[in-house]
This record gives sequence, structure tokens and C-alpha cells, in this order.
Amino acid sequence: MSVHKKTEIKKITTHQLQEMKNRGEKIAMLTAYDYSMARIIDGAGIDVILVGDSASNVMAGNETTLPITLDQMIYHATSVVKAVNRALVIVDIPFGYYQGSSGEALRSSIRIMKESGAHAVKLEGGAEVKDSVLRILSAGVPVMGHLGLTPQSIYKFGTYSVRAKEEAEANKLIEDAQLLQECGCFGLVLEKIPAELAKKVSSKLSIPVIGIGAGPDVDGQVLVMQDMLGITQEFKPRFLRRYADLNSVVTSAVNNYVADVKAKTFPSQDEKY
Ligand code: KIV
Repeated sequence: MSVHKKTEIKKITTHQLQEMKNRGEKIAMLTAYDYSMARIIDGAGIDVILVGDSASNVMAGNETTLPITLDQMIYHATSVVKAVNRALVIVDIPFGYYQGSSGEALRSSIRIMKESGAHAVKLEGGAEVKDSVLRILSAGVPVMGHLGLTPQSIYKFGTYSVRAKEEAEANKLIEDAQLLQECGCFGLVLEKIPAELAKKVSSKLSIPVIGIGAGPDVDGQVLVMQDMLGITQEFKPRFLRRYADLNSVVTSAVNNYVADVKAKTFPSQDEKY
């Protein structure tokens, strides 16, 4: 008989996200890209961790999400999955690894699932990626959609400003959202669109809709962790609420450390062998 008693942790699944929407419980999602931070936010009760291709910006220092590779995304996802006990882990398929053909989209998704142990993938776009979405789903891999401001298309948009303010773009977004649901996506991210439009989409769809800069009337919220913790300083969109000022905390800690080393007060008698 085993003497090890493991604490039962109820893992979040795509089905549970659906139940949360059905009972009106909001879904809390954050990005993470490494083991240490994923461990903290999973322990703090986050429902969903997105290994976003925003890693390209916040981890690698690139101007856009376009340069990050599939191998790099798998590296980040593998580190996050190792840390997680409860949250659902979704991984962005990066730019260039699903648009070429549905076969390529499937191969990329299988690599993500097999090599990282993640639970689902996310990709950007509507009708134009329908074949890829269907092919990935046919292999049993859960897919989340992403509409509105889709950063992988930044050079088409030209700016990171609010999308779908005009009727034509709003109508296309509603059609794409319905299409993604009909294809079988388990959820949808809406980024930086008018709150009224996001409200309409989330009430039309039966699947959970997670917003970032899409107002309060959606089924959940997602933020980039480095932004909400105040690690990034320059990025100040209206929708961002900062829950901490880690930039100041780290700066002050490092200032103190440098001062102690220079003053020869670290290490002390008690801090040596
Ligand atoms: O990559 C990312 O962080 C994202 C979120 C902004 C939704 O896609």
C-alpha cells in the first residue's frame, strides 16, 4: 500500500471553462513563459496560463511577435507545463507555422502538444485559417481562436490601435467568431475592440470569450503578466491595470545589493561557511 498521500488538485480543463461560462463565473487568464513565474501564478489560483507569442516582446526584446520560432515557443511552454498543477496551459502557434497549409498547422500543433505537454493551442485569424483550425481539431487538439487586434498581422494593420470600430470590420469579426465556434474552437480571445462589440460577440457565442482591452462584458480577462506586474514600463494602454510595481521593487533590491557589495557589508559573518 502506498504511504504517499497526494493532495487532490482539480485541474482546469476546456470543459470546465465552458461550465464557468455557463454559470457566469469569470475566467482569469495570464501569460507566462518560464517555470518560476508559472509556478507562482498557478499557486495563486490563475485558471488559464497562455504561453503567448508575446514572449517575443517581453522575453526576447523583439519589437513584434513575428520573429519567435516554434522551437522557442516549445522551450517556453515546456518550462511552464513543468510548473503547473492546476491551470489549463494554452500555447500560441507562432507566425509562419500554420498559415502555409493545414498540414503544417497540424504538424506544428502536434509538436507543441507532444514536446511541451501543453493542453491546447491558440492561433490568430478567422475564415482565412479555417482549414488549419479544422485539421488541428481533427487530431483531437483543442484550439482557441484570436480575433480583433491580431499582433501577427501588425504590418497589415500598421498600428496597434483599436480594431473593428467600423461596421464592415465589426461584421467580419462577428462572422469569424461564429465560424470559429462552428469549427469547434473551445474558446476565443478578443483583443482591443470596442466593449459593445465584445459584449455582442460573447452573448452570441456559447463558447467562452476572453478579452484583453475588450471591456467587462466577456467571459474572462487576459493580461500579459509582465505588464500587469509593472515589469514593463513603456507600455501603457488604457485597458492595462497594474497590480504591482515590480520594476521599482527589483530596482531598489538591486540598488541595495550593489551598495552592500561595494560597502563590503555583504556577505556578513553569518553568511559565510
Ligand atoms: O501573445 C499573447 O500574449 C496574447 C495575448 C495578448 C492574448 O496573445
